[in-house]
Formats: sequence, C-alpha cells, structure tokens
Amino acid sequence: MNTNKNYSFSDLFGSHPTVFREDDGDVNQGEKVFTSSYTPHSIWHREDEMKALVSYFKSIITSPTASSKKVILYGPVGTGKTVISHAFGTELTTYIAKNRDHGEPRFRYFHINCRKTKTPHLILTTILRYLVSGFPLRGFSVDELLRMFTLLLYEQNLTVLLVLDEIDYLLPEERTDFLYSLSRLEESPIIREEFELSQDRLESRFNLLTITRDKNFRYYLDTSTASSLGRNYITFAPYTRYQLFDILATRAELGLCEDSYSDELLDTVASLAEEKGDARFAIELLWRTAKICEAEGEKKLSTEHVRRAVVEVLPIEKSIIDDLNTHQKLVLLSIARLLSVCNQSFVTTLEVKGEYERVCEEASIRSRRQTQVWAYLKDLGRLGLIQQEVENRHTNGRSLGRISTIRIRDLPTEEIITSLGSLLNGD
Ligand SMILES: Nc1ncnc2c1ncn2[C@@H]1O[C@H](COP(=O)(O)OP(=O)(O)O)[C@@H](O)[C@H]1O
Ligand SMILES: [Mg+2]
Repeated sequence: MNTNKNYSFSDLFGSHPTVFREDDGDVNQGEKVFTSSYTPHSIWHREDEMKALVSYFKSIITSPTASSKKVILYGPVGTGKTVISHAFGTELTTYIAKNRDHGEPRFRYFHINCRKTKTPHLILTTILRYLVSGFPLRGFSVDELLRMFTLLLYEQNLTVLLVLDEIDYLLPEERTDFLYSLSRLEESPIIREEFELSQDRLESRFNLLTITRDKNFRYYLDTSTASSLGRNYITFAPYTRYQLFDILATRAELGLCEDSYSDELLDTVASLAEEKGDARFAIELLWRTAKICEAEGEKKLSTEHVRRAVVEVLPIEKSIIDDLNTHQKLVLLSIARLLSVCNQSFVTTLEVKGEYERVCEEASIRSRRQTQVWAYLKDLGRLGLIQQEVENRHTNGRSLGRISTIRIRDLPTEEIITSLGSLLNGD
C-alpha cells in the first residue's frame, strides 16, 4: 500500500516507550496494579486494625454456633476499609476450611457493596442465590427473605460473616429497618421453635461487619439497634505520608520499570496525597503521572508530570457521581454551576432550588418538589460530595437569622459541570 504518511501504524502502536512493566509479553501487566480491581498481596500499616477484626470475630472460630458479633468499621475514603475487610474475610474462610473439625458448621463470608447492591431486598436475594442455586429474584418480601436466610443457617449448618460495605448508599429509612432486623435476626421465636432451641441454649451463627464513611453513623441508629450494633467500633485513620509512600513503593515496584522513578518522586506523590490520607488517590495520582510521562514519550517520571497529573485526578471516586440518580445529579450540577458562576465558597439551599429548576427546564425534565430536593441534598451530604451547614448570619451587628449553606470542598466544580453537563443535552 502506498501512502504519503511518514509513519507506520505499527510504529505508533508498537515501539512507543513505556514506563509500565511488560512481564510475560502482557502489555497491560504493569498497569493492572494501579486499577481499583487489583487486590494487593502486601497490605501495609494496618496490623492493629486487622488485629481488632480478629479479636472481635474470634468467636467465629472458637464457638461457631454461639457467635453473633456485630462490628462497625468507620473511615474516610481510601483508608483501606474494603481491602482490609476483604483480606480478613478471605483469610478467615481459608483458615476455617483447613481447621474445621468434622461436624462443625461450614463458614461463609459474603462481601456486599451497597453502592452496587442498593436495596435490602437485593442484598438478601444475592446471598440466598449463593446458598440455594436458582433462588428466584422476585416473589418474596424482605421479612420472608430474612426468615429463609435464618432458617438456612441452621438447615445447612453454617456460620456467616456478612460484610455490608458502603452502607451509606442504602436509603436511610430502609437502612434503619434492615439493620434493626439484622441485629435481631436470630431472636425470632419462630426460629427457636422450629429448631427446638430452648431459650437458654444459645445458638447464633450470624455475624455482621458494617462499613461506613460517615463519622456519625452510630448516632443515626435507633437505641435498640445501637445497643447491639454500635458497641464494637473500629476506626481507620487517614494514612500518613510515610504510610502512603510504602503503599506506593510496592505498586511502583510491581507496575513500573525499574529506572523510571525514584524514591523522591514517590515521596512527592505521597506528600500531595497526605492531606486526604487517601491511598486510592495516591495510587491514581502515580498512575496518571506515569501515563502523562508515557504520552510525552519520556522514560522517567518527573515532578512536572506529577503536577500535571494532580489537575486530572478527581479527589473523589468518579463512580460515586456515576451512580447517582438523575435528579441527584441535577442537584449536584446546579450547585457546581452556582459556585463556579458566583465565585463564592458556598451557596444557600434556596439558591440551589432556583438553579435546579432552571437546570431541569434546560434538560426538559420535570423538577421535583422542594422536600424532595432537600432529600437529595441530604443524600449528597451523606455520600461526602457536599457539606451542608447551618450558619448564623449577621450584617452590621444585626442578626439575619440562620441560613443553610452548601459547599463543595473537594471537587473541582468545572469537572462536575463537564461530566454532568451531558444530562442537559438529553444524552
Ligand atoms: N494498607 C494498604 N496497603 C496496600 N494497599 C492499600 C492499603 N490500603 C489501601 N490500599 C489500596 O488503596 C485503594 C483504596 O483502598 P480501599 O480499601 O478501597 O479504601 P476504602 O474502602 O477505605 O475507600 C485500593 O486500591 C487498595 O488496594
Ligand atoms: Mg471501600
């Protein structure tokens, strides 16, 4: 083929220098360790948290039929909640499988992400489908599903650890009822009768680990749920710069060519991520730095590449925004538009309502009522996307009363406008 191009496609595609490792001829091999689905082999600086989990759930091993531990795990985004609880569940499964005596219950660990599995109904059906093949997706109420699940624990001689990750995504009303039911799961007289369990013979097989990023989670629980759920509490603190450095160093070792980075470079990335203490942010920042370096055709990551990468990394998971419903997105977009136009650090709820109505009109979507908009604002707050506060306002010494202010502290408003703007075009 005769073309006038002064390059060949294979040149563009194949011989580009890469900073990522290419083991076993797999070009994407190195990049994999920077993805969110990658499970790290070495987990750094979480020994105490792991020990706390082991000590709370020890009874699953020591007395499996009398274990009903409920633990809450709190920590901001990127502090290792998912990765550590998953490692715990997996290791516990392996340990019990190896050491279980004949006749002792089998152990099952379920890790449910409530961002993906959004309702109690879906959570229970998901679990039941693991336990009973072909279990129907529809046809039962939550109460019926709870009862069937409990009966199965006895019938199949099981002990269970259920991890409800990102519990903040369940609707508050549903969450309250669901947690109440789960915390009382095995107290039902029907279960006791059915299995002829006397009141004094304790049989408990259900253990629950609830993961939240909401510091006040405990205080939203009603007293009776709190008394059974809220006593065992583990906090995951944000990572320090040195801890982030270690996490980054392992990823770099596995994913990047040896000569492409230095310890100083990793420390620069760690120091930029330190304010949040967010490992996910740190890892993504390093990955973007490498991508920018690669796109420039360079072989060594530089501070300049890091600086440019910072601008690109959204400090909050983009998936959180992607998973919002349309009206929640429109409310968030309204806030972002107001903030970027008026160049203030906050907006008021009334301003948001006005802008939301305009945005709905532009998108040719019927706007929801005021109470619903307030509820959306609450949702966005719960997910950590906005901060809502009530402030006392004064002017010239005169009180103007209390107003509710809304801020977006961590998200670049332009980024939100660009990514949600497509809603207005009817996409
Ligand atoms: N202690 C650690 N050692 C190694 N990697 C970690 C550690 N903590 C977090 N990570 C990594 O950082 C990212 C975010 O961790 P994750 O567990 O998802 O945080 P969270 O659930 O608290 O938001 C994941 O890619 C995870 O593999
Ligand atoms: Mg998580």
